[in-house]
Amino acid sequence: MKDNRIRFFDTTLRDGEQAPGYSMSHDEKTRMALQLESLGVDVIEAGFAVASPGDFESVRQIARAVKGCTVASLARALEKDIDAAAEAVREAAHPRVHTFLATSDLHLKSKLHMSRRDALDRVKRMVAYARRKCADVEFSAEDASRTDVDFLCRVVETAIAAGASVVNLPDTVGYAAPEEFHDFIRSVMTRVPNMDKAILSVHCHDDLGLAVANTLAGIRAGARQVECTIGGIGERAGNAALEEIVMGLRTRHDHYGDMEYGIHTEEIARSAQLLSRITGVKIAPNKAIVGANAFAHESGIHQHGVMADARTYEIMTPESVGVKKTELVLGKHSGQHAFAERLKTLGYELEAEQVADLFADFKSLADRKKTILDRDLVALVEAKAGTHVRPEREWRLDTFVVNSGNHMSATAQVTLERNGKKRQEAALGSGPIYAAFRAVEMIIRHKFTLEDYRIEAVTERRDALGEVFVKISDKRGSYRGRGVSTDIIKGSILALLNAVNRMLNA
Ligand code: KIV
Ligand code: ZN
Repeated sequence: MKDNRIRFFDTTLRDGEQAPGYSMSHDEKTRMALQLESLGVDVIEAGFAVASPGDFESVRQIARAVKGCTVASLARALEKDIDAAAEAVREAAHPRVHTFLATSDLHLKSKLHMSRRDALDRVKRMVAYARRKCADVEFSAEDASRTDVDFLCRVVETAIAAGASVVNLPDTVGYAAPEEFHDFIRSVMTRVPNMDKAILSVHCHDDLGLAVANTLAGIRAGARQVECTIGGIGERAGNAALEEIVMGLRTRHDHYGDMEYGIHTEEIARSAQLLSRITGVKIAPNKAIVGANAFAHESGIHQHGVMADARTYEIMTPESVGVKKTELVLGKHSGQHAFAERLKTLGYELEAEQVADLFADFKSLADRKKTILDRDLVALVEAKAGTHVRPEREWRLDTFVVNSGNHMSATAQVTLERNGKKRQEAALGSGPIYAAFRAVEMIIRHKFTLEDYRIEAVTERRDALGEVFVKISDKRGSYRGRGVSTDIIKGSILALLNAVNRMLNA
């Protein structure tokens, strides 16, 4: 029977997280993994377990939390990597070990100092070893698209014979062209004698901007697993973007055929926004499917056309990817019930205590801002997310006073509270935010470097909430924080404290 199901293997938390600026904490990764589960991916690659104890823990935490899809860990074709990967995913409902070895002559010679014969032997031994540790094993031939195809067919046959249920052929450096990649995948599909015993997968990078085109070409050639990330994040120029692949299949089913997949496309926008909030990296406005302009029509001709019939300039509906056209408005007379219902509709399943806590924030915001839109609510919730991990060790803002003007140095007096005790400091600075940050640094008695500071208005009007993102670092690592307030100095201090608490609890 013809297999029309496309399995979505999401590597946002592994290949995606490897990209500079996208690192996430354990809890953030688990949150993202649970959203990927709601999105309906088939496999979550949760990390590279052997890379560090932190990576191992993240994979294990995700393996415990996720029940509805397979959880995989990457491993080089080495026993110690496979041991760590198998152990990290052991408690998953559906565990997978994903082992890889480079197969192109360039990588074999220059990187691995290995002959083709040694590589075949390693594939055979390590896939069989992984199979003894885990029932579901995927093998990847790194740099497959630059590997001699006759040799690659032998590698694929060997991996399947040794027990791999999925064989992945990456275009590791984003070198392939779509027609060529199609023929390459077709050639492996038709030439490997035991190909019917495994699923062929593709994993494309975007160095020439062709990752999604190559992935779709791979599907046309018979690949039935696609490896991708939310927003296309990943090494260098990134990986193929999940949302573009699935919306390509959906929108152009006349071209790609009636493929089946488990992705709930209405969860796409939420997934991309969550990733952006967690990492603090903004989605480019013109990003296909999930950018702010993806469904915006600026020119008069386009607006007129869309009003007459949306299909004139929209090939998919915003609703189909979870972008809501209308935003519900809450205000200071809204009650806790309406507030809780709205949070539920926005996808937040919160404990009663958390709702009550957020409702207090909502009320104080409603005193200062006339109308509260969904975007304000999301910002409020997200600013609280990930805090209160160990409340007794958290610094909280008690009071602050700043003084600033164009003929004076700025001064800030800040009082923070931790575990019932208050501490106060005053500092000078070239601006009020700098002064406030120095006062915080003096209170916590821990030096840090401010790596990044960004402020954005959540909505358009003058009374908009300001959402502040900061990144700080100390000798051990870097930490992000987010703060939300109609007062940008308060928002900045809250964002800094969010990062400081992560740093001190790390
Ligand atoms: O790009 C690549 O080749 C990879 C493999 C390790 C799967 O990420
Ligand atoms: Zn990759």
